[in-house]
Amino acid sequence: MIKRITSDLELLLKFKPNRLKHIYGVKDTAISLGKKYNLDLRKLEIAALLHDITKYYSYEYNCEVIKKNYKNHEEILSEFNKATLHAFSAAVVAKEKYNITDNDIINAIISHTVGKPNMNLYEQILFISDYIEPTRKYDSCIKVRKIAESSLDKATYEAINDSINLYEGMNQLIPKTAYQARIYYKELTEE
Ligand SMILES: [Fe+2]
Repeated sequence: MIKRITSDLELLLKFKPNRLKHIYGVKDTAISLGKKYNLDLRKLEIAALLHDITKYYSYEYNCEVIKKNYKNHEEILSEFNKATLHAFSAAVVAKEKYNITDNDIINAIISHTVGKPNMNLYEQILFISDYIEPTRKYDSCIKVRKIAESSLDKATYEAINDSINLYEGMNQLIPKTAYQARIYYKELTEE
């Protein structure tokens, strides 16, 4: 399975070497965090390899896939900005093309862009790994990378907060779940 996904990615992203580097960076980061928290590393590896597999779908095609596969498609399409829709189509590809049925993998892919409240460790680690993998060089990513060494919850809060601020600054749609996640992780880290 992992071999098949990797060779598909190599072909698909032949002309997007930075995206491929990003995906491998997410995989390595997720595996090293997964070891620390005693998780099933194979599940994390599959989730990391597939999380951006539809990153280059057009907006129109993402909409089509989402309408066909999600009962709550109206809510998704009215709340999530264009840059985040690939998470939903990537989960469909995981299920349909690679026959992934494991909910930890599917849900981690779906929530990797803006997070959600009360993520499980698979979801949280994919979310954080996407934000802090080594090719990310923004100040916020460097800051969150450091925080993740000691607290995943605090790192999650900071990543969500910075993402919301960034999207707000760009006047982009931000889903309710991102705001709810920000409150959830803020309260957790204040306990
Ligand atoms: Fe990503």
